[in-house]
Amino acid sequence: MTTYSLRPAAPADGAFLADMVVEVANWRQGAARPRHDVLADPVSRGYVAGWQRPADRGVVALDGDGDPVGAAWYRLFPADRRAHGFVASGVPELIIGVRPLWRAQGVGRALLQELAHAARSSGHARLALSVEHGNFAAALYRSEGFAVVETSGRRDTMVRTLLA
Ligand SMILES: CC(C)(COP(=O)(O)OP(=O)(O)OC[C@H]1O[C@@H](n2cnc3c(N)ncnc32)[C@H](O)[C@@H]1OP(=O)(O)O)[C@@H](O)C(=O)NCCC(=O)NCCS
Repeated sequence: MTTYSLRPAAPADGAFLADMVVEVANWRQGAARPRHDVLADPVSRGYVAGWQRPADRGVVALDGDGDPVGAAWYRLFPADRRAHGFVASGVPELIIGVRPLWRAQGVGRALLQELAHAARSSGHARLALSVEHGNFAAALYRSEGFAVVETSGRRDTMVRTLLA
């Protein structure tokens, strides 16, 4: 059995979160966009630039040696610098990535659940995200309570309500 643990993301996690942004950009089987190319894109870079701002929250999964293997985090985007899953200013947008060797072992779901807990504790009523058509992650999000609120091109924006 594979064991991992979770901890809150910290300012020093910026480089690892950037690694996860690269994993997200390369979610399709066989995709291998280089890191510098992914992070040159203002929208991709926007998920990690200046990490960690006061309202940023994240969760990092660690292997048995304490090395990071996955992360989910959210931040607030202003309307004029929106990312892919922008719904409204004040609604944080999350992004999630798990290193390939650690996928399909429950890490992603555990990260999502812990992040939703953190968002609720911080007083957020909703969490948003963006997912490309064809990414199985959409099924994971649906099973965690997210629903599609908008479709634009090859992307769905999904939102989960956190407070009753
Ligand atoms: C999406 C991602 C974060 C999910 O993390 P994970 O640790 O692999 O997910 P889990 O192991 O918690 O699996 C969650 C569910 O998805 C299913 N699943 C996992 N891998 C799958 C795959 N390749 N195809 C279809 N379903 C899959 C699991 O069976 C599980 O469902 P279950 O609980 O009903 O069995 C991870 O695969 C990843 O980093 N992908 C690349 C980056 C990415 O696409 N990020 C999301 C951008 S929107």
